[in-house]
Formats: sequence, C-alpha cells, structure tokens
Amino acid sequence: MEKASFTEGERLFAPLESRARVRALPSSKIREIANEGFGKSDLLRFWFGESDQPTPDYIKQAAIEAINANQTFYTHNSGRAELRASLATYLSDLHARPFAPENISITSSGVSALNIAMQTILEPGDRVVIVTPIWPNVAEIPRILNAQVVRVGLTAQGGHWHLDVQQLLDAITPQTRMVVINSPSNPTGWTIPAQDRSVILDRCRRFGVWLLLDDVYERLVFDPELTSAPSFLAIADREDRIIAANSFSKTWLMTGWRLGWLVAPAELEADLGKIIEFNTSCAPDFVQLAGLVAIEQGEAHVSALRQGLKDKRDLLARRLGALKGVTAPAPDGGMYLFFKIEGHDDSVALSKRLISEARLGLAPGAAFGPEGEGWLRWCFAADTAALKQGVEHLQLWLGQ
Ligand SMILES: Cc1ncc(COP(=O)(O)O)c(C=O)c1O
Repeated sequence: MEKASFTEGERLFAPLESRARVRALPSSKIREIANEGFGKSDLLRFWFGESDQPTPDYIKQAAIEAINANQTFYTHNSGRAELRASLATYLSDLHARPFAPENISITSSGVSALNIAMQTILEPGDRVVIVTPIWPNVAEIPRILNAQVVRVGLTAQGGHWHLDVQQLLDAITPQTRMVVINSPSNPTGWTIPAQDRSVILDRCRRFGVWLLLDDVYERLVFDPELTSAPSFLAIADREDRIIAANSFSKTWLMTGWRLGWLVAPAELEADLGKIIEFNTSCAPDFVQLAGLVAIEQGEAHVSALRQGLKDKRDLLARRLGALKGVTAPAPDGGMYLFFKIEGHDDSVALSKRLISEARLGLAPGAAFGPEGEGWLRWCFAADTAALKQGVEHLQLWLGQ
C-alpha cells in the first residue's frame, strides 16, 4: 500500500519511487522473448503484432504533401473536421447505421483510444469485465486507473475459439461499470458470432454498464460473406453506453504512425476532448491528413489485405493442424494463430527453447494472461515463404 502522507523529514529521505500500482505492472513477456532473440540473424520472427509490409505509397505521399504544405500545427482536440466527417461516413456505410462527426474523436493510436475511453469512464474501484486471453494493455489500463479487473476466459472447442455467453452474462452484475470485448481478438482470433451480441447488449443496458469495444481488427475477418466483423455498433441505439476504440495500425499498415479513433455517444464528445487535451492534445495534423486519404482511398487495399491474410491463415492452420500433438484452432479474424503443443505447459520456457533450438520466434501465451498459459501466438501477417519455413522448423524440432 502507498503511504498516504509523509512528515517533512520522512519525505526528504523517502526512496524515489513511482506509484505502487505502476511499480507492480508486469513487464512485457513478448519483449522478454524478443530480447532473447536479439542479435540472432537466422531467426524467423513472428512474435510482434504487426505486418511485415510497409505503409502503402498513397498514404505516405499524403503525409509528405501535408508536411510540405506546413500542416504541422495543433488541431482541434477531437481531430480535424474532415477526418471526423469521413470516418462518420465510413462507419455509417460499414455498419448500416448513421454516425455523425460528433460521434468520432481522433486519437494518437488505438492504445491511446483505449486509455482515453477508460480515463473518461472509470472511477477507482470500478469493476471491469474483460473477455480473455487478451492483449495485455487492455487489462492493464484499468488497473493503472485502480479499477478491478474480472476475466472471462474463451475456450478452444471443435477447432474454434468459443465464448461461453452465459458465463459472461453472469459476470456482468449491477456492480459492473464496464465490459471490454475485443473482436476479432488478439491473441486468439475469436470473433463474436452475430447472434451473441444482443443478449450481451441487453444485459449491459439492464445495469447501465458501459460496453467498450476494441475493434482494431474489425476489418480483418475471413468469412467471405463479411467485410467487417459482426459489430455491436450495428445493433446499438443512439443512447446506448457504447464506446468503440479503433486504429489505422493494422488495417491500413500504419503501426508507426500512431493514429486511431473513438466512436462514442455525442454526449461524451466534450469530455473525451478534455481527456485528449491532457494526454496528447491532438494527433499530429499531417498524420491525420494521411489517415483521411487511407479512409477515402483505401478500400481496394483493405480487401486485398483481408484476402491475403485469409490465405495465410488457411495455410498456417492447415500445416500446424497436421502436426502430431499440436492443437491449432483456426482464427475467424485478426492476424494471429494461437496454438498449443502437447506436453509443453510453460509458454515462456517453450518460446525460449524454440528460439535457440528451432530458430523460431513466437510470442508466449502467458503474455496474454493466465488463460493463455501453455499456448503460443503466431502472427501470420508475414511473408508466405517465411510462414512455410517456420512450420518446417517446428516440424523438425518436434522430430516429425
Ligand atoms: C487488441 C488490440 N487493441 C489495440 C491495439 C493498439 O493498436 P495501436 O495502438 O497500434 O493503434 C492493438 C495492437 O496490437 C491490439 O492488438
């Protein structure tokens, strides 16, 4: 427990320490593994959550032109009007429901969007229910804010990841302030079935619970009938307590640009703007202008990316699934395959062995919470030849 107050003398001699809550934050287990592989040139690396492809030229060109035109000043806290309007139109088309610019706030990345949403809504002690395993940031941000996290675990069943909806409903109590759902999910690729949405939304409505959606992979779905994952935004009413965090990182290959957005009721616009002011004040103007071009000209590229990822998903799921002792549920979306090798329950130890003995770099499942222990995450937004080679390395290491 943090000491509440100090006498003058005590403060003088107190150690130079950050908040206890911050000191208790875990360091990244993916970084731990990446550091293990540092300097090893013949290693196949699939541990980080980003594509190996650079940002498309038309997006880069827009930023270069914006810089040359001196678009280098602060913008409105909630972002450029044209970008907000463009995203409102994009989302209205995608989810067949009207969105207005007042519903959109531009943020400096998806992770910043999640921080801003949680800083705007959560009080210390609030109960936050999260579907897990999950990208660690989603579960740590509420803890930084002294909220209390309740985890509801997905399970692998019949070759797919599955959410026990009743278990989630039981976890949403009158004491719950927020439910966080990431679909398609990092690390499992689980994607919420369309029919599961309304019963969850009804439960949130009943207790006045906020639903925070992490939609950063929503366009990366592999059902050929879909151009976007089933979305709560599509079934929501104007007055629902729903906030969606999104990002340019994965869909438009812009991880290093740090640009994202929030979709929220217009009633929150001013408060979100205040919190953006105290975090970054605004996203960089020339980055926003590049984002505008990505949204307005990017659809052909998004379709090609989705198709390419589907082919890679099919290849990896088929080849890993053919190995003896390997359980590899096929992801419905996203860009990761979360799999398990029989007899290896310590994912950090296994990841380290695979680096030194199989020259294969994967993220340990334990990085995504206790439900992920024993599993490994393979990012397949990578070169197809490298994916094939990676499976061969694993096959050899397994002695098959
Ligand atoms: C589930 C999830 N949400 C949000 C993000 C944040 O993306 P960014 O901050 O690059 O926009 C990531 C990145 O890996 C993610 O996996």
